[in-house]
Amino acid sequence: MNQLAVKDLCKTYIVNKRPNNVLRNISLNIEEGEMAAIMGPSGSGKSTLLYTVSGMDSATAGKISFFGKEIEGLSAKEMSRIRLTQMGFIFQQMYLLKNLTIYDNIVLPAYQADGGRKNRERINERARELMRKLGIIEIAENDITEVSGGQLQRACICRSLINQPKMIFADEPTGALNQQNSKEVMKELNRINKEGTTIMLVTHDSKVAAKCDRVLYIEDGSIKGEMSLGKFEEEKLRERERKLSGWLLEMGW
Ligand SMILES: Nc1ncnc2c1ncn2[C@@H]1O[C@H](COP(=O)(O)OP(=O)(O)O)[C@@H](O)[C@H]1O
Ligand SMILES: [Mg+2]
Repeated sequence: MNQLAVKDLCKTYIVNKRPNNVLRNISLNIEEGEMAAIMGPSGSGKSTLLYTVSGMDSATAGKISFFGKEIEGLSAKEMSRIRLTQMGFIFQQMYLLKNLTIYDNIVLPAYQADGGRKNRERINERARELMRKLGIIEIAENDITEVSGGQLQRACICRSLINQPKMIFADEPTGALNQQNSKEVMKELNRINKEGTTIMLVTHDSKVAAKCDRVLYIEDGSIKGEMSLGKFEEEKLRERERKLSGWLLEMGW
């Protein structure tokens, strides 16, 4: 089954009474277990696409189904439940809360989902396990201002995974990182994907996109093309990068 099915999606913003057609008849499917990258020029509508298909923003027209369930008819409460329990989000501007430790930021969405406070012990265990896996257990009690950009981004990944989402939406997850941290973050995303989590990520970095199964290219709010690379294998990275660069050149990147 398609995890995410999008049909003729349009999004129009009205600014100063002028319509801005940011997404124009976008149709796409993301399969369960897939890792798809969205590329395209700045302002082409990539972030808007991510926010709209994940129900964070409303569509102007078109149909979006998440696991066969159309999100249009859902109440705000139902939608926020799905976002909280089945979707994970990673953004470039890292929306972690100040005045909370790294650890508290990570467990917060799980505490929110755990209304009856029955699963606190399991949540705490899972948080520690995730932080160990991502190598940030030693900064658990730090304030978010006391860690590096790479550590902060890995904390965001832990937080996005705490409720074991079926799908992760990431908007330029490596955009604020140096090469080394970017590599580490991609290693984690590839691992998470291998373990079964579907990922849709926006990136302007072809090295990041080369580690995804498929790349969709957006221009002026339309999909201009797509390229399949197949499942990521480290040994074939150079070859994938070369193939993708050639294709991006054709796309006018
Ligand atoms: N909340 C908003 N209100 C009005 N216009 C917006 C809003 N968000 C984005 N836009 C406009 O939509 C277009 C696409 O933006 P965006 O999706 O952020 O592009 P990208 O992520 O590809 O750089 C831009 O012209 C931007 O100004
Ligand atoms: Mg953007």
